[in-house]
Amino acid sequence: MSSKQLQKSSQLQTQTQSESEAENWYHDIDQLHDYGISAIDTKKLKAAGICTIKGINMHMKKKLIQIKGLSEAKVDKIKEAAAKICNDLTFMTASQFREKRKMVFKVSTGCEEFDTLLGGGIESMSITEAFGEFRCGKTQLCHTLCTTCQITSDNYRGGKAIYVDTENTFRPNRLKQIAERFKMDVEAALENVLYIRAYTSEQQHEILDGVAAKFHEEIGVYKLLVVDSVMALFRVDYSGRGELADRQQKLGQYLSKLQKIAEEYNVAIFITNQMTADPGSTMSFQADPKKPIGGHIIAHASTVRLSLKKGRGDTRIVKIYDSPDLPENEATFSITDGGISDAKE
Ligand SMILES: Nc1ncnc2c1ncn2[C@@H]1O[C@H](COP(=O)(O)OP(=O)(O)OP(=O)(O)O)[C@@H](O)[C@H]1O
Ligand SMILES: [Mg+2]
Repeated sequence: MSSKQLQKSSQLQTQTQSESEAENWYHDIDQLHDYGISAIDTKKLKAAGICTIKGINMHMKKKLIQIKGLSEAKVDKIKEAAAKICNDLTFMTASQFREKRKMVFKVSTGCEEFDTLLGGGIESMSITEAFGEFRCGKTQLCHTLCTTCQITSDNYRGGKAIYVDTENTFRPNRLKQIAERFKMDVEAALENVLYIRAYTSEQQHEILDGVAAKFHEEIGVYKLLVVDSVMALFRVDYSGRGELADRQQKLGQYLSKLQKIAEEYNVAIFITNQMTADPGSTMSFQADPKKPIGGHIIAHASTVRLSLKKGRGDTRIVKIYDSPDLPENEATFSITDGGISDAKE
């Protein structure tokens, strides 16, 4: 892995995707002004975390009407204008889609075997979920990705990360140690990671509007969004039996927003999840009676699901649990001072 690092944020901006590439990808919401939509209205959309034309296309009319100050007639006008600027509802051939997929990049896990398992690393434009019991390395992986996402390689320009912490386990000192391993400028590496703590699932949801605003502020500069852990607050905030349906509905809305952000801004999203005993397992004689929480909602929202478990000593085993294009193989990695790395022989 190349240890060439992006030094300063100003440099980051010039080194990321070429401007024309970004222009094709992002249509700023301010383009609506040319179609008679006022700046007051685009400001309202931005405040709701919708900063691009793609963002408008990805939201249902009924969602847009819920934004304070936007009438149904206005939303119709906005939708119409957005479709004129960028009509996402057009067919493309598989080869055209393949061209588009060339924008997708991968962020290294810090362990070669792990990267190979993933076909290069965790992928942009999708959600990768890692679940496993405590101490299996989920948070360590989050810290490592926030650092490795800054490292440039031949076909990847590196970028910044946002870390959403719901469990108070983010440690800048771990970032420092990992940055040192990759011989990065530690201060610059820490500057390139934005941190925010969520105390309730409502805050966790609300933070996504701020995340979108940050991604929009510096288009193409952010490469990674980490949510550690995605379920912890939902689990506490909706703990009653009768609240399960409500929880799943809110969770579904949250994950849907995450997926939209991943595609709208071409970033990799990495979320961690917890496990629980499977009450049905006694009936089915399962070898592993634990399963990730969040049910079908999270199962379908995550593009790639990784199951982590403890191995011998400081080693951990990661298995592809579900993926649209990866076989169900395993890899072994270690947790070291320098973050996730190759398992020692
Ligand atoms: N500097 C370090 N060097 C080596 N191992 C470390 C270091 N820091 C933490 N670890 C190890 O990492 C493990 C904890 O991993 P991590 O915090 O990622 O777990 P987790 O999967 O996030 O657990 P939880 O479900 O409780 O959040 C512990 O076994 C700990 O010993
Ligand atoms: Mg953790």
